[in-house]
Amino acid sequence: MRITIVGVGAIGRLWAAALAKEHQVHLWTRDDKPQTQFSFTPLAATHSPVQTLTFASNQAQQLANSECVLVTVKAFQVEQALRDILSSLSTTTPVIIMHNGMGSQTIAKHLLPNNPLLYATTAQAAFQPTPDSISHTGQGQTWLGALTDNAKRYQSLADVFNATLSPCQWHDDILQPLWHKLAINCAINPLTAREQCKNGELAQAKYQPYLNQICDEVAAVMRAEGYPTQAESLKSLVDQVIEATANNFSSMNQDLCHHRPTEIDYITGHVVARAQAHGIETPCNTQLWQQIKQLEQEA
Ligand code: PAF
Repeated sequence: MRITIVGVGAIGRLWAAALAKEHQVHLWTRDDKPQTQFSFTPLAATHSPVQTLTFASNQAQQLANSECVLVTVKAFQVEQALRDILSSLSTTTPVIIMHNGMGSQTIAKHLLPNNPLLYATTAQAAFQPTPDSISHTGQGQTWLGALTDNAKRYQSLADVFNATLSPCQWHDDILQPLWHKLAINCAINPLTAREQCKNGELAQAKYQPYLNQICDEVAAVMRAEGYPTQAESLKSLVDQVIEATANNFSSMNQDLCHHRPTEIDYITGHVVARAQAHGIETPCNTQLWQQIKQLEQEA
């Protein structure tokens, strides 16, 4: 399959490296260079050697000929990334958008009114120790599903992704796994960013009241959005992720640490905005949102 990946952060590179084993992968980057090279360290468990990978990049014709486009930029970069590829993208090419957080769906539908539009969320983990390298640091579930009706016939893309980095499954209502991932990110990301700690440290007793209240508020918003859930089930999901990623620094922690903009507006900010629309109070999430916005400005 001919696939273009837009955005070469940690997750974009991970999927590029994995998909390149079976598919023709082309990258779309911000630097406009005709080639992109990086070293890839597979998951330690596979005992595979470090590989140096080279990809053709930023070729309008290759983008136009792509059978699938995977957009892996951060939520706040989606609009610009889609505007950048619009003139070369065929209107029949399915476009998959994969990022932490929610809220880019409206602009994506507006900018790509005819393309089959899909969303994905992944718990695969990657770390970029240097600008020219990427390590696959953890395996996790990927969900893929259609946002628009004309994307419903692309279920086979979940098989392609599953054969590449398993497990990946198709979901008939992709907003449901997106909401669950959002709940996890609302709990882990702002707290680990504010406290400058690893995910595992959130298991300490002093953070439990915060985690419980975050889950309580997110569950209320999810129910109002039509996704029935209980705070307790979100909290146990969050606890599982804290344990499974105990040694990781969350993406928001790393963004703040490296003075990069965070995804807070598309994570906690999205919950707060939807809560306001439903007349629901979210004091804990609102406070965390304001604190991270403040820390972003000071960084
Ligand atoms: O954003 C992240 O870092 C990840 O989505 C998660 C699940 C919080 C693990 O670090």
